[in-house]
Amino acid sequence: MAKTQHTPRRFREDLSETPDWLKKKKCPNRDKYLSGERILPNNITGKEKLADLVDRTFLAYNSARLKEGCQLFVDKMLEGDVTVGMSFAGALTPAGLGCSSIVPLIKAGFVDWIVATGANLYHDLHFALNYPVRVGSFKMDDTDLRDNDIVRVYDVLLGYSDCLMATDEILRAILVQPEFQKEMGTAELHYLLGKYAAEWERKTGLKDVSVLAAAYRAGVPCYTSSPGDSTIGMNVAGVELRGNKLRVNPSIDVNETTAYVLAAKRAGGKSAVVLWGGGSPKNFMLQTEPQIQEVLRIKEYGQDYFLQVTDARPDTGGLSGATPSEAVSWGKVDPTRLPDAVVCYTDTTIALPIVTHYALARHKPRKLRRLFDQRGKMVQALTKEYFLHNKAKMLDGSKPVF
Ligand SMILES: NC(=O)c1ccc[n+]([C@@H]2O[C@H](COP(=O)([O-])OP(=O)(O)OC[C@H]3O[C@@H](n4cnc5c(N)ncnc54)[C@H](O)[C@@H]3O)[C@@H](O)[C@H]2O)c1
Repeated sequence: MAKTQHTPRRFREDLSETPDWLKKKKCPNRDKYLSGERILPNNITGKEKLADLVDRTFLAYNSARLKEGCQLFVDKMLEGDVTVGMSFAGALTPAGLGCSSIVPLIKAGFVDWIVATGANLYHDLHFALNYPVRVGSFKMDDTDLRDNDIVRVYDVLLGYSDCLMATDEILRAILVQPEFQKEMGTAELHYLLGKYAAEWERKTGLKDVSVLAAAYRAGVPCYTSSPGDSTIGMNVAGVELRGNKLRVNPSIDVNETTAYVLAAKRAGGKSAVVLWGGGSPKNFMLQTEPQIQEVLRIKEYGQDYFLQVTDARPDTGGLSGATPSEAVSWGKVDPTRLPDAVVCYTDTTIALPIVTHYALARHKPRKLRRLFDQRGKMVQALTKEYFLHNKAKMLDGSKPVF
């Protein structure tokens, strides 16, 4: 981290034209306000390492927020006793951020649980299946693209029948396999898909290109907050028409994610959230604390660390742009922890590779927490605490099992 440089103080007495009234003015907090690092960065040479560039030249506005985010992530969130959840909204995997950033974060143990839009996990499959996603342009003629069997995500292009529909066909063939014929939450659904994605990676000779495959190998549970709102959900619905028995139960997801946050606290550790974009993944990750406090009525105080990168403004009232201090009022963030909350207004496609690089450069890998394997045990502990804190009874009069 860059050291604070102390500026030689220029005394008022030295300024001959300073009027007497100003010379006599008492400024008790002046030194405190001006105790920050002096803005006087070295000339950039092209030889700097990225993490040093961040520390030394990201000095104001959103660059400074990004630096604070990098430092918060590395200095506090990656401590051994912190459980880190990350949410991902926006079209990140089509832009290559799964391969470049999310997979390395998973492998290094820098993310313990994930909530993503279904789209991010669906488009991740093209990478495992070796169906190319290509750089295009946002200026292209969309009618001509449609005529040429191509779909566009801003300046990213995908083949319609040889990438999208081909992925769907394989996905449907996977979803009708015996292990999918039951009710499950999305962590289990994505874990099972991840097993196939890992096998496809192996078959195609591509290594570490798929988030689902990496999460499967690392035991990182991946949730989606809107299971029906993606091409994975569309294909789940499609095969249900043919009698497929897979039923996705979002309440399983709510209880499991809540159990991770409570388990982190009860183990004497901390809980951190890193929110890439907003949307329903952001809320799904943050609602774990209101679930503990408001619904299960267990005494708790909110998230310990909060980092969000977003383009959304707070003044429209949408959750995507809601600030950590607003989240305090809902019990989502511990008010005593607000100094450890950073919001950076920028594009995730810029910030995520920088934060990933910074973290890998500045912090050694962490032991994998493998929360996927601990879901049952943690939900049991949550259930136990719920019944201990409440006069609730089982609806059928039986004794609660935990
Ligand atoms: N083929 C598919 O499966 C498919 C494709 C697209 C969207 N969807 C679905 O539509 C829903 C919305 O998804 P979405 O990806 O459009 O999310 P979104 O655009 O709703 O993202 C939520 C918020 O995150 C912020 N955000 C988005 N991209 C950002 C970026 N690059 N940098 C900073 N902030 C950013 C914005 O404030 C946005 O309002 C999801 O449920 C998704 O699964 C599905």
